[in-house]
Amino acid sequence: MGTLGEHGFAALIERAGDSILFDTGGGLTLLPNAQRMNLDLRRVGQVVLSHGHYDHTGGLWPLLQNCGPKRVLAHPGLFARRYAIREGVSRSIGIPFSEEFLAGQGASFSYSDAFREVAPGIFLTGEVPRLSAFEAGDDGLFCDSTGCRSDSVPDDQSLVLVTRKGLLLVLGCCHAGVINTVALARQRTGVDRLYGVIGGCHLGFSSEAQLEGTVGALKSHGVKKICAGHCTGFAASARLAREFPGFRPAHVGYTIEFEE
Ligand SMILES: [Fe+2]
Ligand SMILES: [Fe+2]
Repeated sequence: MGTLGEHGFAALIERAGDSILFDTGGGLTLLPNAQRMNLDLRRVGQVVLSHGHYDHTGGLWPLLQNCGPKRVLAHPGLFARRYAIREGVSRSIGIPFSEEFLAGQGASFSYSDAFREVAPGIFLTGEVPRLSAFEAGDDGLFCDSTGCRSDSVPDDQSLVLVTRKGLLLVLGCCHAGVINTVALARQRTGVDRLYGVIGGCHLGFSSEAQLEGTVGALKSHGVKKICAGHCTGFAASARLAREFPGFRPAHVGYTIEFEE
């Protein structure tokens, strides 16, 4: 199809006249890929940011420049400083723009850390309680460049779509943990059935125990579809593909249609 890849995640959710952009990629590919896929991002009514990492927020400026002012839903911690330290190398991985700059470019921010409805039957989780014993997360993320304070990415949130088949979750990186996120979604919507999970599961940077626990819990929830990509990681994706017949890789340019 000719779409371009970069490290990042973005998903356009179109449902019953609502057009919601969930994350914006790293900034290089959002606009060319939308054009290539015949998607008009000027029609996007709301932008939802899953968390403040650059690979989910970097496309916000080009979006505003080319597609006009947007309402942007985010957690109040969006602009926190963030670093990754891997193999001794520290790098800044936060949102690459200031709040003032983005506001001047047409972003109207709506901040909340609470569970909220963003469109009929579409919810944003807000901050996700970290309750499961095995979802320890990524130990390479820090709030400072020297690695003194680890970063659990408390602002991480996901979208929850209520469908006739059950809950459908759209994840950015899901630093909060897939199973923690499923638990909150079930509790807050009152819908027990988990239909599907789409997006980044961040299992590529987590322990083997987290992968094992996640596979087991997803099975016990009876999940029907898993469309994993981004930071899910190759090995974890291969494992999910082996364990779940409904697995599909969520690669760039992929369109998923869900019957209502
Ligand atoms: Fe990411
Ligand atoms: Fe992330």
